[in-house]
Amino acid sequence: MKRSVALTLTFAACLTAAVWLSAATQSPTTPAPRAAAVTFSEHIAPTLYDNCVTCHRPGEVAPFSLISYEDAAKRAQLLATVTKSRYMPPWHAEPGFGDFADERRLTDAQIASIAEWVKQGMPRGNTARMPKLPVFTEGWQLGKPDLVLEMPEAFDVPADGPDIYRNFAIPAGITEDKWVRAVEFRPGTRKVVHHALFQFARGGAVAELIPSDGKPGFGGAMPLRMVSNFAPAGDLGGWAVGTTPRFLPENLSWTLKAGSDFILQLHLHPTGKPEKERSTVGLYFANTPPPRRIRELSAPGLFGVLANIDIPPGEKNYVVKGTARTFANMRAYSVLAHAHYLGKEMKAIATLPDGTTLPLLWIKDWDFNWQDRYVYKQPVDLPKGTKIDVTITYDNSADNPRNPCNPPRRVQWGVQSYDEMGAVIFQTMTSSDADEKALNDFNAAIAKAVVNQVQQSDTVKRLQDQQKQFKAGAARPVGCGQPAPSMQFFQESAARPGRTMSR
Ligand code: HEC
Repeated sequence: MKRSVALTLTFAACLTAAVWLSAATQSPTTPAPRAAAVTFSEHIAPTLYDNCVTCHRPGEVAPFSLISYEDAAKRAQLLATVTKSRYMPPWHAEPGFGDFADERRLTDAQIASIAEWVKQGMPRGNTARMPKLPVFTEGWQLGKPDLVLEMPEAFDVPADGPDIYRNFAIPAGITEDKWVRAVEFRPGTRKVVHHALFQFARGGAVAELIPSDGKPGFGGAMPLRMVSNFAPAGDLGGWAVGTTPRFLPENLSWTLKAGSDFILQLHLHPTGKPEKERSTVGLYFANTPPPRRIRELSAPGLFGVLANIDIPPGEKNYVVKGTARTFANMRAYSVLAHAHYLGKEMKAIATLPDGTTLPLLWIKDWDFNWQDRYVYKQPVDLPKGTKIDVTITYDNSADNPRNPCNPPRRVQWGVQSYDEMGAVIFQTMTSSDADEKALNDFNAAIAKAVVNQVQQSDTVKRLQDQQKQFKAGAARPVGCGQPAPSMQFFQESAARPGRTMSR
């Protein structure tokens, strides 16, 4: 990392100097000095090795490798375009809104050097100066797991078609509650799995409640803990392409209830040829319970169930706002945003009791396909009385290439991908046992009011009706499908000259 930063900085400095010189001394008789040479070996490869090859190498999820000179030179113009637009590397959190670990962002100088390399005709440079390819650890990154679970059978992923969301219930086989510090995910076929979410549910609940469609697992992207029939159910984190597995910070852990099924939800991405996926997860247990439990602080609450999301067809800028308050001293460890295909932008800003504002997350160009969890480098203290304001915008026009319905239709809150949700969710813990008690007392006092509110919500009634209709065999609304991944991008790039994408 150090090396490439230093190199690109030097390069940028030379370039600036060269431009300045040429402006100052150019005359018809003296030819302008040329910009410093940018070569693959010295300038481009270090950037690619630091920022791209985690995904762009053989067998990984990206559609081509970016390891060799030939790999990169073949698509040089495309590399310049996707880095300039910051489409790659994929990273949706804007700088200045939260300081996150493992940030994937190129510097302006790195982007400029890729463009300059293309302009100079992609010189290879001295191959002796090539950086070493990073070593990618095979096997479990976090060490030997305490429990390894494998999908009971492989799932067939067709050669093409839309992305698939598929859930697999794997009996965890545990007879006492466990405290989970990490779940490490190992896809069977790396390039078909885009991301995975981990949940647990009452043992046997899936088999009992979800009719089989003849293939292993079941479809959909449901948060099971929101459906009472699956209880006890809960979250156990997730995995996305390119992320480093890590333990939860500061003795945090999730509870995995005795007798549960581990529910593995996979987002599968067809590769152009038929593939089979059979993934494995490793669970790491803590010996002692966490000091206090993990809590989600969400705005709007419950994925937006009560926010009355109701987006008219054609509406380009539908805004949902929500506020979360801390009723005890809390710390936030990470944040994730959630919406479906119409989501466009989400922003979260905290106002502390002393009036200071703290930008916590800003996603300018929400992409359903990159649902990263952003982990704060330093946990963020949210003292009692902090208010977190969240704004989420949606685009339900036909101009939104990700719109799953054509023509656009009225969209309300729901669990199907053509319905919408919206929330920014912080993973938090109270700061002390006294805070924990204060929060529990507060929650107990308002629990009844919340339950009432949920029971009386039109959204919940509509959802129950929708479930009944599906049970009775109703089809999804006419004209609504799940769009192909990154459709917008594929359309744009298809129109670009010189596109040579192969899988
Ligand atoms: C976290 C994984 C990941 C990282 C890191 C990553 N990519 Fe990608 N890249 C992908 C995936 C997945 C695709 C294919 C799907 C898509 O286009 O969204 C892709 C597609 C591309 C494409 C093709 C776009 C098209 O029009 O087909 C280019 C070019 C590209 N990446 C360049 C880069 C460069 C350059 C870097 C580093 C600066 C990088 N990527 C880092 C995952 C990654």
